[in-house]
Amino acid sequence: MTDSWDTIADWYAELLRTGSALNDFNRDVLLDQLPDALTGQRVLDLGCGEGFIARALAARGASVTGIDPSARLIEHARAAGAVGPGSVVYAVDDGCLLGTVADGAVDWVTAGLSLNHVPDLDAAFAAVRRVLTAGGSLVFSVPHPCFEAPDASWTPVDEASGAVRRVVGDYLAEGFWRSDNPHAVRRAGNQHRTLSTYLTALLRHGFTLQAIAEPAPTVQVTAQQPQRAGLPPFLVIRAGR
Ligand SMILES: C[S@@+](CC[C@H](N)C(=O)[O-])C[C@H]1O[C@@H](n2cnc3c(N)ncnc32)[C@H](O)[C@@H]1O
Repeated sequence: MTDSWDTIADWYAELLRTGSALNDFNRDVLLDQLPDALTGQRVLDLGCGEGFIARALAARGASVTGIDPSARLIEHARAAGAVGPGSVVYAVDDGCLLGTVADGAVDWVTAGLSLNHVPDLDAAFAAVRRVLTAGGSLVFSVPHPCFEAPDASWTPVDEASGAVRRVVGDYLAEGFWRSDNPHAVRRAGNQHRTLSTYLTALLRHGFTLQAIAEPAPTVQVTAQQPQRAGLPPFLVIRAGR
């Protein structure tokens, strides 16, 4: 069977429920780019999955709309409910279209590890600009393109200590690729893009770069995955409309 986000939806929802330090870290570094208090703010969470980030935004008081093309993940998100004081509603939608979201409807768009799945980045950025208010911002994270390229791997450098190092992979090979690791999230596929592709696409669409972060993994992450010490797993960008 060829995996998709629908076929791995139950696995992914269970992964987050049982506690993934890497996903907790991603949520936290994304939320670091938004105000602590979001009461009165309307947020679109693009590629919301099972609602992990949407619930955290609602906990800060935001009125959140979560969209995702996976009907099964949206089922999980609805079943998990909302965390007040804000609210969350969900819709099945494609981040390249945002057909369920009106023009100028939101103050923020968040996209945690989802723009690396949209097939058409230009269409997604155009849709994000359309739904943001004039002063609104996009905050997104992607697996760090420099270290999470197709066929990147770990290689042992010291048998005695078990130390490993990252082998970069095919950094310039942009486009769709799929991990053949049956336990990897990217068995459902991933759109690899270089750092300059993300940045120049933002500029081409008229966004203003407000922040770029490459946060170091937390001790919780390196306790679960020691090989990640010393490399930023994610690239985080905030861009104004
Ligand atoms: C790694 S998950 C992240 C989910 C969630 N943001 C989180 O942090 O748990 C990637 C998500 O991107 C979604 N996705 C795939 N294609 C997409 C598209 N065209 N538009 C929006 N989201 C998409 C997947 O369905 C999946 O929910």
